[in-house]
This record gives sequence, C-alpha cells and structure tokens, in this order.
Amino acid sequence: MTTVLDVQRFKEEGRRFAVLTAYDFLSARILDEAGIPILLVGDSLGMVMLGYPTTLPVTLDEMIHHAKAVARGSQQALLVGDMPFMSYHRSVEQAIASAGRFLQEAGMHAVKLEGGGRIVEITGKLTALGIPVMGHLGLTPQFVHQMGGFKVQGKSDKQAAGIIADARALEQAGAFSLVLEGVPADLATRVTKGLRIPTIGIGAGAGTDGQVLVLHDMLGLTTGKAPKFVKRYANLAGEITKAAVRYVQEVGDGTFPGPEHTYSANGGPAAKPQQPDEVKYGAGQK
Ligand code: KIV
Repeated sequence: MTTVLDVQRFKEEGRRFAVLTAYDFLSARILDEAGIPILLVGDSLGMVMLGYPTTLPVTLDEMIHHAKAVARGSQQALLVGDMPFMSYHRSVEQAIASAGRFLQEAGMHAVKLEGGGRIVEITGKLTALGIPVMGHLGLTPQFVHQMGGFKVQGKSDKQAAGIIADARALEQAGAFSLVLEGVPADLATRVTKGLRIPTIGIGAGAGTDGQVLVLHDMLGLTTGKAPKFVKRYANLAGEITKAAVRYVQEVGDGTFPGPEHTYSANGGPAAKPQQPDEVKYGAGQK
C-alpha cells in the first residue's frame, strides 16, 4: 500500500506521480487496480456527483458517505479525504473531530485542508495526533467568493510571496504534501524547488512533483467547456450517449434481448420470441 513515506520518497527519487479523484466504490476499484498511488475523495464531488454550483454546500456527512465507498473499493492507494467547507473552520477541536471521522469511520489515510494562515496551526495539531495532512494553496475553491470567482492566484508579487510563505509554513507544520491549484507555472516550480515535501499540481504547469485531475474531467464525463488545464483522455459522455441511444433502438425494434440474454425452462436455447402478429394469429396461420 502507498504510504505518506512513499510519497515523500517519490520526491526524493525525482519520480513524478499521478493523483486522481474518486468518489465511489467502482471507480476506486478500477483506479486502484490501474496503479494510481493516491486517490483523493475531493469535495469537488459536490459539483461533479451532487450537482451543487460550488463545493461550499457539501457536508461532512456527504463526504464520509462517499469516502467509505472509496475505501471499500481500494486496497493499494493512499486515500485522502477532503475536509469540506465549515468542517474545520470553527475551532481546532472541530477540525480534529472532522478529520478523525475520515480516518476512523471512512477508512481514509490522510485529510486535505484548503488554505494557509490559520490552517497552519490546524495542520500542526492534526499531524501531532497522527493524522497526515495534505495542504492546498492557490486557487482554493472553498474561497470562491473571497477570490471573486474561480481565478488563477499568485499572479502579483504580493500574492506569490503569500503562497510561498504559506507553503513553507505548512511544510514546517508537518503537511506531507501540498496541492497547488490554479497558479502560474513558474510560481509552482519555485514552490516545488523550495520544499522538501512533494507538490501536486492542478492548473499549475509541469514543474510540480505530481499532478492531480478530477476523474470525471479527464474521462470526458463532464461536458461543456473544460478549464484550460484539463486534458480529456477519453470521451465517456459521448460513449454513454451512443450506448443509450443504441439500447433504446434495440428495445424498440426487438433485437434486445436476444436469445443469448434469455432464460429457458430446460436450460436449452430459448425459444425465438413470437412477433406481435404471431401471438395474435399463430405462426403461419394468417
Ligand atoms: O476537490 C478536489 O477534487 C480537489 C482537487 C481538484 C485538488 O481539491
């Protein structure tokens, strides 16, 4: 099984690694068997799976429900549960209780928290209690209203300096890795070079130690215009549409179910289904 020590070793060995989101049993099993070393039960599931307009409405109970399913599907990957909005904002005690649920109830191995500043103290407390923390800086979706939308962060010198300072502080506090989302590539490279812990980029260029994508984006299951940083490795929305249309046609014209999908009483080949006119008049007796 991948551990936080393995992830640290990836950086030391210069091995670039892939991370994907997973929100359910089946996709976790497929990704785990495909050898993805880290699966993130991201709060993006609120938008992707539950249809919320942002990640803010996602509750801790919803996250735990999905995280449990992912844990049932995975055997090898390091599992990271994303702490949703307002599950760690009130107090350190609340953060410990929420993170504890991810490890104790849901079978996660680590949690992810968005932001610097006060989150640094929480990171220190959680890691001291044996709860590994993945940090998340840059375009942090839980700050969408404060950022005035989903906008690239760290473009100005002042913002960039803030991200660098927060990254160092999170490392110092014990974070085992750091997601850098929606920041200029040169800033992400600078942060990566300045840290001992691995960085994981999304919309942060090629200079980070790892990359993360939302599974449904890279599979082409989410439709419409994708953000610039998304690469579609498949067009599953198109495949699903084609399959559904064909199914409707085959049910309509009677070619599904065929004999190979049909049971008979004696285990032999199923009788050819009678056509509606045969049922009415009897075959050959029109
Ligand atoms: O919620 C999520 O999926 C994330 C990743 C995009 C990093 O936070």
